[in-house]
Amino acid sequence: MAPKRGTAARPGASGITRTCSHRVDFTNVPGTVIVGAQWGDEGKGKIVDLLAQNSDVVCRYQGGPNAGHTIVVGDDTYKIRALPTGIIRGKPCVIGNGCVVDLEVLISELDAFPDGELYLSGNAHLIMPWHLTIDQASEHRLGKLAIGTTRRGIGPCYADKAMRLGIRVQDILDPKILRQKIEVALAEKNLWLTRVYESEPFDLETVAAQYEGYAQRVRPYVADTSLYVETALREGKNVLFEGAQATLLDLDHGTYPFVTSSNPVAAQAAVGLGIGPKRIDRVLGVSKAYVTRVGEGPFPSEIAGDDQTRMRELGGEYGTVTGRERRCGWLDLVALRYAVRVNGMDELALTKLDVLSHFTELPVCVRYRMRDGSETRDFPAHQSDFHAAAPVYDVLPGWDEPLDGCHSVADLPAAAQSYVEFVERELDVPVSLVGTGAERTSVLSRG
Ligand code: GDP
Ligand code: IMO
Ligand code: MG
Repeated sequence: MAPKRGTAARPGASGITRTCSHRVDFTNVPGTVIVGAQWGDEGKGKIVDLLAQNSDVVCRYQGGPNAGHTIVVGDDTYKIRALPTGIIRGKPCVIGNGCVVDLEVLISELDAFPDGELYLSGNAHLIMPWHLTIDQASEHRLGKLAIGTTRRGIGPCYADKAMRLGIRVQDILDPKILRQKIEVALAEKNLWLTRVYESEPFDLETVAAQYEGYAQRVRPYVADTSLYVETALREGKNVLFEGAQATLLDLDHGTYPFVTSSNPVAAQAAVGLGIGPKRIDRVLGVSKAYVTRVGEGPFPSEIAGDDQTRMRELGGEYGTVTGRERRCGWLDLVALRYAVRVNGMDELALTKLDVLSHFTELPVCVRYRMRDGSETRDFPAHQSDFHAAAPVYDVLPGWDEPLDGCHSVADLPAAAQSYVEFVERELDVPVSLVGTGAERTSVLSRG
């Protein structure tokens, strides 16, 4: 079935065609991954939106509506959870096989972008209502040991995928198959829900009718996304791979068990879209100029005291999906160095530098002190070592000026420039973009 075509522009959204005055020329880089380098919410959405201007296709390759990518366009703020952020620029968008899809959320976003061009992988898995219930019930049961998930059913959905019990997007193509799959799944899930979690069971007829309604709306978008992306790359088009979540939330490489249930790292762009690894030409990491983490788990450079609240307020650090307070910390270069390694990062976008204005001193974590008193620049390989790691800081001078008047890197206060250069030196990776405000145009290129 042919996906819906057209150019997306949300009616009434002002300034949609405004372009950044600091354009980044990525025209010779067909396959670019944008990957979160910390614990999420680094400003990936804004960087994708910037680069989407010179791209032909934008793809999500993992995760689901646990993501919340914010783009501020003049007076409009978009918070995108399911669709690739490129939808705002009217670019063809792909949701790859590595993603999990909540049809209700997807449909609400499609309603907001009625002319959006979407290609939805038939191999992506569906987040079903019982996944949300199990996510919530499981967190509740864990009590103090809870992960602090977004409660969007992500873990239970990926678990069913691995168990080979999942329902996939392609199952919505045939109403009979869809009903049958729901029936088979419910036979087991209702037992779990009632006997283990003491929750209400789901009614087959109600769920089947609800999903048939969703299916009718979404069927036209189902496509062979592997073929679509590969063809675009072969034709020399520029394709952006939009990571959700981040390196330290990666199921394999993150701070397990306080992670998400997918692989946000750059290499997953190939697996999660069905293309070869050599199709990835460039990896652009995104990091805040400090660190935030939402949810539980170790966080060595977490700020103690008033600066924690100050940074949260200055940075507007509240979860996009759940509204939870984000925990704030000083920039952690040990963790960031690790993100450079596991992603094969070519360059870094350093966002939210403006939030650091007015701090007199800026501690930056350059090493961890381990339990035996030794110090390391490398991220500990084992959980207990990481939990016990204490940050060792270099303290850099702050600056007092706001950054909103800066139109080029040369306009930045000297201390802000030094901060960026320090990060670059410590990581041995070029910082190619610097974020100076939430607005789509508030980004400086150091290219
Ligand atoms: P994502 O999940 O990585 O796309 O990031 P989120 O959208 O969840 O969180 C980033 C927040 O920071 C959003 O509210 C953005 O509007 C905002 N933001 C992005 N870049 C900048 C920046 O350079 N400065 C400031 N002040 N805000 C930014
Ligand atoms: P974006 O794409 C920040 C965190 C949750 C929790 C852990 C597991 O906006 O950067 P999950 O619901 O995925 O099972 O939760 O992962 N988490 C995020 N934190 N940004 C996100 O996405 C996140 N997606 C999941 O808070 O700690
Ligand atoms: Mg986010």
